[in-house]
Amino acid sequence: MNAPPPLSSRSVLLRFALIAFVLLVIVLAFAYVAGCLTPQRLTAQSLVNQLQANAGVFPGYRRNHAKGVCVAGYFESNGNAQPYSIAQVFAPGRTPVVGRFAVPIGNPYGPDSSAPLRSMALRFTQANGQQWRTGMNSMPVFLVNTPQAFYEFLQAQQPDPATGKPNPAKVGAFFASHPETAPFLAWVKTAKPSASYVTESYLSLNAFEFVDANGARHAVRWRMVSETPDTTPGGSEPNYLDADLTQRLAQGPQRWHLVVTLANPGDPTNDATKAWPSDRRDIDAGTLVLTSSTPQESGACRDINYDPLVLPDGIQASDDPLLPARSAAYATSYLRRTSEEAHLPGTADAHSTQEAK
Ligand code: HEM
Repeated sequence: MNAPPPLSSRSVLLRFALIAFVLLVIVLAFAYVAGCLTPQRLTAQSLVNQLQANAGVFPGYRRNHAKGVCVAGYFESNGNAQPYSIAQVFAPGRTPVVGRFAVPIGNPYGPDSSAPLRSMALRFTQANGQQWRTGMNSMPVFLVNTPQAFYEFLQAQQPDPATGKPNPAKVGAFFASHPETAPFLAWVKTAKPSASYVTESYLSLNAFEFVDANGARHAVRWRMVSETPDTTPGGSEPNYLDADLTQRLAQGPQRWHLVVTLANPGDPTNDATKAWPSDRRDIDAGTLVLTSSTPQESGACRDINYDPLVLPDGIQASDDPLLPARSAAYATSYLRRTSEEAHLPGTADAHSTQEAK
């Protein structure tokens, strides 16, 4: 066998140059994705970093809506939404649900009265294996309509090291330069932290699209309307919501109606600060029945990322720019919190029995 001819020093240099070039491209690609090349570009990391800067870091917990409780039950569809969406969840019958109620604050130990709203997140698992995940808030409109504005709001809310509180001048300047916040501000003036998760109704706020059997698309928003509404505010004790939920569930299942609102042509689908006119057609699609609750540290909801873009066939995202930003930020928060769980005292065992979902 003939030995290969020796490489000339020029071709050795060329090979090294090629390897160095490929490495440089890889490093630049990572730097771009991490936002290092475009520091002014808003990333999921910067949004979650800002949430952490405002509330602190509580290892293993969600970076927003950190205080919460897991729930389970089912959705009983009545078939009314079936003409508008082929999603299996809307065929008559039951779909199992794993959910979570929460207080939208970053501190899992903060008092229940810290915010005048509550949230409900649900994961429906259809018989065909597809899932529908949704996170809803108990307010009529969202504060802002773009991820950038949400980021600026969070920056304005960052506690001043001197006082431990947001700087009122910065907060005032934010609202003065964001007139789209007016409907939220009008609502928040009268909003009170409720005494119960059960008495609240929860809204998708973002628009989505239903797709019917003919492939036609229908712009929708949805909400879970409590069968036992009550506006009584909660007391001053820090943790009344969990006790209230346990006590109500001990008396029997708790129910909400899934109401789907169909948009009229021209209704905004990309602006969560604008409610649709109240005369839009509502469809009562069925009943959510919750039967049990579990602390979030050991419950099935802990390792679920309620990403609003996990959707079954028959439900699609709208053009609302908040949706992809939510999806990316929730994934970042999820990765951070689940990678911390194994190091938490008392949660390692629960973690090993949970399937990452
Ligand atoms: C750009 C805007 C937004 C950002 C950056 C953001 C960020 C976050 C983050 C980081 C979490 C924790 C996720 C996790 O660790 O699983 C969260 C939870 C949540 N967010 Fe948002 N959010 C935004 C807008 C909204 C909107 C418009 C809604 C409307 C309903 C909403 C509802 C919720 C709910 C219900 C939860 C709790 C989910 C759960 O219980 O696991 N968020 N948000």
